[in-house]
Amino acid sequence: METKRELIPPVILLLLLQSFLHTTAASGIAVYWGQNGNEGTLAQTCATGRFSYVNIAFLNKFGGGQTPELNLAGHCNPSTNSCRVVSDGIRACQSRGIKVMLSIGGGIGNYSLSSTQDARDFSLYLWHNFLGGGGGSAARPLGDAVLDGIDFDIELGSPLYYDDLVKFLKRFSRRGRKVYVTGAPQCPFPDRLLGAALNTSLFDYVWVQFYNNPPCQYTSGNTVNLKNSWLRWTSSVKAGKIFLGLPAAPQAAGSGFIPADVLTAEILPVIRKSRKYGGVMLWSKYWDDRSGYSTSIVKSV
Ligand SMILES: *[C@@H]1O[C@H](CO)[C@@H](O)[C@H](O)[C@H]1NC(C)=O
Ligand SMILES: *[C@@H]1O[C@H](CO)[C@@H](O)[C@H](O)[C@H]1NC(C)=O
Repeated sequence: METKRELIPPVILLLLLQSFLHTTAASGIAVYWGQNGNEGTLAQTCATGRFSYVNIAFLNKFGGGQTPELNLAGHCNPSTNSCRVVSDGIRACQSRGIKVMLSIGGGIGNYSLSSTQDARDFSLYLWHNFLGGGGGSAARPLGDAVLDGIDFDIELGSPLYYDDLVKFLKRFSRRGRKVYVTGAPQCPFPDRLLGAALNTSLFDYVWVQFYNNPPCQYTSGNTVNLKNSWLRWTSSVKAGKIFLGLPAAPQAAGSGFIPADVLTAEILPVIRKSRKYGGVMLWSKYWDDRSGYSTSIVKSV
């Protein structure tokens, strides 16, 4: 007996196509990994299926002629090369379509760029040691996996020459292997340390830290400051996508934690309307493990 082949009606095809286009530009969760040895491996982080971007935190010593240094807390020790195994995690994440960036800066460290030449030298260091610049004589502290880009979490030192660094890094982008540049400014606008770099308009993703700064974050029961601040950022900063950066647990920051039900019911429905909305950034994988925050919000992001 001949089975009749069912044709898919054009209207269904159109709906399928639309949902495909929608998911390729989908919003997602970015998470910081690296500052607590008790947060699982990078591969485990990506295997949860809840994250679309991971920032490895931090390269917290660079500039001014210093030899750059990575610090991954209890995960591994760069000085004995034990962080090279992180390459396995980077590849595991990338095989799931997750973008992995190296985050430079952080709240503790010794970093500052002293000139345009210093920015150029540091961009070459990053290219050879973490990006597609190949091994050669480079130490490659995270092994031979090629990271997707560099994240700027500049919280100390001077604002100078980060705009140069962004431009130099972007010049390494090739067709088929883009170098992503992302950043985590604090929510007071403009950001004192990253403002000039953001004004290059070269950032792919900007995850604004809407915490530790009550005038531009959520405070118990009050969503107005946060929504106004979100509008300010999304209307002023030219970047690929802008993310709502949040603490993953009340203890993860001094202030700014938003209960998951408030976020999903009162905040995400409003900020999602922005064309620039990219999703939510969480500090950090360690705190997310403790609170289960990403599990509670992922379907609404
Ligand atoms: C921080 O870096 C500067 C060079 O940029 C250096 O002179 C200074 O000694 C460093 N401080 C520490 C505590 O490492
Ligand atoms: C960057 O651009 C914004 C306007 O979008 C402006 O307010 C700010 O002063 C500029 N410069 C710096 C260093 O932030």
